[in-house]
Amino acid sequence: MAGVVVLGGQWGDEGKGKIIDCLSARADLIVRYQGGDNAGHTVVVDNKHYVFHIIPSGIVWPGKQCLIGHGVVVNPFSLAEEKRTLESQGCEIEGRLLVSDRAHLILPYHKQMDQFWEMYLGNQKIGTTGKGVGPAYTDKAARRGIRVGDLRDSDRVSRKIRENVEVVNKQWSLLGGEPSVCAEEILDSLKACVQEIQPLIADGVERVHDALVQGKHVLWEGAQGTLLDIDMGTYPYVTSSSACVGGALAGTGVGPRSIENVIAVVKAYTTRVGEGPFPTQCSEDDGNAIREKGNEYGATTGRPRRCGWFDGVAARYAMRVNGVDQLAITKLDVLDEQPSISVCVGYQCDGKMLNRFPADVDILALCRPVYETFEGWKENTFGVTRFEDLPHKARNYLQALEKLLEVPVGMISTGPGRKDLIEKLDPFVGRQGFS
Ligand code: GDP
Ligand code: IMO
Ligand code: MG
Repeated sequence: MAGVVVLGGQWGDEGKGKIIDCLSARADLIVRYQGGDNAGHTVVVDNKHYVFHIIPSGIVWPGKQCLIGHGVVVNPFSLAEEKRTLESQGCEIEGRLLVSDRAHLILPYHKQMDQFWEMYLGNQKIGTTGKGVGPAYTDKAARRGIRVGDLRDSDRVSRKIRENVEVVNKQWSLLGGEPSVCAEEILDSLKACVQEIQPLIADGVERVHDALVQGKHVLWEGAQGTLLDIDMGTYPYVTSSSACVGGALAGTGVGPRSIENVIAVVKAYTTRVGEGPFPTQCSEDDGNAIREKGNEYGATTGRPRRCGWFDGVAARYAMRVNGVDQLAITKLDVLDEQPSISVCVGYQCDGKMLNRFPADVDILALCRPVYETFEGWKENTFGVTRFEDLPHKARNYLQALEKLLEVPVGMISTGPGRKDLIEKLDPFVGRQGFS
C-alpha cells in the first residue's frame, strides 16, 4: 500500500509526462498534486502526440483511474477543453477522471491579473505562463478562493464570484488599470462548463486512501520542478506551488509512509523557460544546437527554452530536498552529436568555491560554473532499450551523473516515444539504494 512520486529535478519540462506514461502501465491511480494548466506534459505513443496541462498523463492508458488532487488549481474552462480534445483524439475518459472537491479554481480574472502583473513589473517580470496560477494560489492563501466543490452549489458560487470580482476591480483601479471584470459574464460562461465538470467532482482524499488501503499502485505526478518550487526554488523566479515531494503529501492528503519511492526526472542537460538566473546556460551556438535537436520549445506557451549543461550543484540540491530514491534521465539522445559535454560540479562565486545551491538568486546570478568535461560519444542512442547497447562513453556519462548525485539511475529515456526507454529499476517493487 505505497506509491511512487515522479517529480521534476530541474526547472521543469524534464520529460515527466513521458516517464509517467511509462510507469502508468503498472499503476492503478495517477494523481496530479500541484500546479495548474501552466504545466505541459507530453506523451508520445505510436507517433501520436498528447499534451496534458491539467489531466494526469496516465489517462492515455485505458482502464487507469486519474485524479486531479486538491493541491492543483483548476481552470474549469481549460479542464473541459482538454477533456474534449482528448476524447476527440480517441481517449475514453468516461468514469476514469475525478477532480478533488478541495481543489481551488482559476477563474478568468486570475489570468487577467497574472498578465497585468507581468506587464506592471516590466523588466522585472517573472516570465509566467500567464495562466493565472499565481493569483489563484494568492486567493487560496488569502482565504477568499473558490473551490471545485463550490461548483455543486450555484448560489454559493455566484455569491463568491460576485464578491471576488468586486475586490479584483477595486485592486485594478488602485493599480491604475481599468476595472473591466464582469461577474455576470463569468457566471454565464461557466454554466456549460460546470455541467461537464460536475460529474467528475469527488472527495479526492478518500479516493487516494481507498486505493492505498486496497493495495493499489498510486503514482503521483509532479508538475514544474524543484527549482521552480515556491520554497525550494529560485525565488521569486518560481511558480506558486510546492513542486517538491512535500507537495505530493499536502496536495493529496497522505502521510509520508504512503510513498515508497521518489523519482526525480532530470534531462541529460538543463533547460529553463521564463526569467531568473541559470548558471550553466550555454553559449548561443551550443544552446541553439541543443534547442533544435531537443525541440526545446514550451509545450504550453511555445516559448523557446533556454538551454545549458547539466548542473550537478542544483541537481544534488534537488536530490536532497526531495529524498530522491531513483533518477530518470531523459533526452540522452539529444547529446548524441555533441563533440564534448560539460557537467557543472561546483560554482565559483566571489573568488570562492561553492558546492551548495544558494538560497539567494542574486548570489546564484554571480555564480560561475566549474565544469568537468566529457568526450561526446558521437553515436546514435535514439531508441536504445538496453543499457549494454549504449556507447561506452554514454554509459560513462550516466555513471558519472549517478556518482555525482549519489542516486541510482532507474530509467534512461532515449527518445520521446513510450518504447524509447531503458529500465534498470522497478520503483513499484521496493527500495533499491545506491551502491
Ligand atoms: P514535462 O513537462 O516534464 O512533461 O516535459 P515536456 O513534455 O514539457 O518536455 C519534454 C519534451 O521532450 C517533450 O517534447 C517530450 O516528447 C520530449 N522527450 C521526452 N523524453 C525524451 C527523450 O528521451 N528524447 C527526446 N528526444 N525527447 C524526449
Ligand atoms: P511543466 O510541468 C517549465 C515557469 C514559467 C515561469 C515560472 C512561473 O511542464 O514542467 P507560472 O505561470 O507558474 O506562474 O510561471 O514558472 N513554469 C514552467 N517552466 N515547465 C513548467 O511546467 C512550468 N510551469 C511554470 O515559465 O518561469
Ligand atoms: Mg512541460
